[in-house]
Amino acid sequence: MRAAVIGVGVIGSLHAEILSERNMLAAVCDIDKNKLKKYNCPVYTDYKAMIDTVKPDCVHICTPHYLHAEMIIYALGHGVNVLCEKPLCISREQIKAVLEAEKSSNAILGVCLQNRYNKENAFVKEYIKDKKVLCAAAHVAWHRTKEYYASGDWRGKYATEGGGVLINQALHTLDLLQYFAGMPETLTASVSNLTLKDSIEVEDTAVIQSVKGAGITLFASNGCAADMPVVVTVRTDKDVIQIYPGTVLINGMPQDIEKTTEKLRGKECYGSSHGLLIEDFYKHITENKRFPIDGEEASKVVKLVLAAYESGGNETNV
Ligand SMILES: NC(=O)c1ccc[n+]([C@@H]2O[C@H](COP(=O)([O-])OP(=O)(O)OC[C@H]3O[C@@H](n4cnc5c(N)ncnc54)[C@H](O)[C@@H]3O)[C@@H](O)[C@H]2O)c1
Repeated sequence: MRAAVIGVGVIGSLHAEILSERNMLAAVCDIDKNKLKKYNCPVYTDYKAMIDTVKPDCVHICTPHYLHAEMIIYALGHGVNVLCEKPLCISREQIKAVLEAEKSSNAILGVCLQNRYNKENAFVKEYIKDKKVLCAAAHVAWHRTKEYYASGDWRGKYATEGGGVLINQALHTLDLLQYFAGMPETLTASVSNLTLKDSIEVEDTAVIQSVKGAGITLFASNGCAADMPVVVTVRTDKDVIQIYPGTVLINGMPQDIEKTTEKLRGKECYGSSHGLLIEDFYKHITENKRFPIDGEEASKVVKLVLAAYESGGNETNV
């Protein structure tokens, strides 16, 4: 397999490192030439030229959110498999266009929601498979500064990031809530900018409540004084399941969870499951099977986020 990475910023470098370790890195692309200097494979500043010339088996899209849809559509339209960083895209129109492109292509689309591969989450997903889930709740209390937002001109803006804490930092956790509890029919949400009014136009804090179709509760903020561990709680008709980093308690009892052998790459909050997801994605490509986190699956969490933005404190259809 020959793979290429589009966007070698913070997370794209990590994708390139994983591909390079597997001797799969055929090319990289970034509009910032400085970021290309460290690579000894062919480098491009135009992703279309790279796809047309290199004809990779797969591209990893690691660019700002607003570019995901157009890049997915171009690659799938040229028969190239795609692994796109989260989120799938940032609007309902883009969801429709991406799903249409996926349907009319023979290539495979996967989205990097790697926390589903964390051992704790995989354990819980298996544990609840025959159980009735009443509610899944979580809090994401993280610390993001003015300087963090200034580190990329696409950050903190509706047009380019698509939103704030919900569509970026808390997206993985919101995805897990729907992965465990199912997709709600409606939700009520409140979003606000409590601590970063002087630096971003998007929300730094949000609350989502849903009771119809599936019970989901999310408290998320980038305005916490420090990065706190994410805690997810799942309630079934019989059990209270608490998921902490590295630990799962069921009715207060610690469970025997397989330890991950993957190394932590990049920031701690990325976890160590990028490698596991990438391995699994290539396994699906090799076997010519749809990837479980395909366009349809990855669009669910984007629909939740968009409904939260549309809600304005009122119950809204997802
Ligand atoms: N799965 C995770 O845990 C995780 C973690 C971090 C970031 N991400 C996601 O990865 C994506 C990138 O985030 P980041 O933090 O690496 O951002 P970043 O700003 O560090 O990197 C983005 C890169 O894309 C490049 N770029 C912009 N426009 C381009 C274009 N037209 N063609 C080619 N390159 C272009 C930029 O120059 C930059 O190097 C986002 O979608 C983000 O949400 C996911």
